[in-house]
Amino acid sequence: MRTIGSLSTWRSAIQANIQQPDTPRLRKRSEIQLECVDYHAPGRRACPEAMARDNGHFQWPSSDTGMLDPIALSFPRLPGSCQGLRVAHLSDLHLHHPRRARRMINLIIDRLAPTKLDLVALTGDYMDKPGDEPLALEFFEALERRVRPRLGFHAVLGNHDSPELRRRLIAQCPWLNILDNQAKPLIEGSSMIIAGLDGDITREADPMALMASMTGLPSHTEREPGATPRRESGPPSLSTGPDPQSGREQIMPTAQRPDARRHSFILLLAHHPTWLPIAADLDIDLMLSGHTHGGQIRFPGKRAIYNSTDFPLRFSAGLLRHQNTLAVVTRGIGETALPMRIFCPRQVPMLTCNHGPLPGQFTHQVVNLQPW
Ligand SMILES: [Fe+2]
Repeated sequence: MRTIGSLSTWRSAIQANIQQPDTPRLRKRSEIQLECVDYHAPGRRACPEAMARDNGHFQWPSSDTGMLDPIALSFPRLPGSCQGLRVAHLSDLHLHHPRRARRMINLIIDRLAPTKLDLVALTGDYMDKPGDEPLALEFFEALERRVRPRLGFHAVLGNHDSPELRRRLIAQCPWLNILDNQAKPLIEGSSMIIAGLDGDITREADPMALMASMTGLPSHTEREPGATPRRESGPPSLSTGPDPQSGREQIMPTAQRPDARRHSFILLLAHHPTWLPIAADLDIDLMLSGHTHGGQIRFPGKRAIYNSTDFPLRFSAGLLRHQNTLAVVTRGIGETALPMRIFCPRQVPMLTCNHGPLPGQFTHQVVNLQPW
């Protein structure tokens, strides 16, 4: 029987990974004396073979059995033609090391290929560092070759994706709908719109241009007093403070934009989840985001230590609601900085959208309805 090793064994394993991320030392995971429990089947011990199948990445608990994560959502404004819409949400692959990257690509495509899908939504960080563009292109080519969503592939780029990747995707993947602060009908003649806010390296995200694209109204160059402050580029910086009732850190309400209201259903792709208050101002129905990796390294109980955003840690991953907008913030697929995931398994949300009441209650504060 495997037993939990001493704290010093565990600490030295982590240090070995920090200092030498690609050494064979960490790949020989059987040396690390841990009791491994399948995250999705409590009480079942993962065997050493299961750990060896872990695609060259360190993940503890090691199982990927629940990577495709079915999530049912309901919306009062969903058009009848989109009833039962099935969406695969892929984010944050961070493809970098070629051998690991190809295993990861095969893992994802093998799982998605037999799945019946309406659309694939991609929310950025396909590559990790400059020079990784060919691996990201390999992923997109494999995706197009083996996965057949009825309504196509729709993407925004993330803060790790280079201008070179954008240029090559536009040139080599004409089937990919890259959304640059714009909104398009998902189905011609339907009131279902897909929109995208860009990441912060390749192009500045511009919610005003997006709103103009959605509504046909002129793009505003200045926001009203009290609106969410924006940096010159990149995701918005959020105002946070204690909630007067609970005392917990909360995102402050933003100004309403009544001119953004309309009757179409809008699905927004935005790499950074911190666009949520602005998406709620724009009366977006559903926002898909990544970037946080769910914290990537967490304590038991889904408690993130860090999430690389202004968001309070309890919003690092889950189904969030703000006003009448739902946001799916995925744990994502890959890793950055440290090549490991702890208590934070990979996730590809498989969304099914139906007509019905919005989950949760209307509130001007952000609420995590379903942490994952
Ligand atoms: Fe990322």
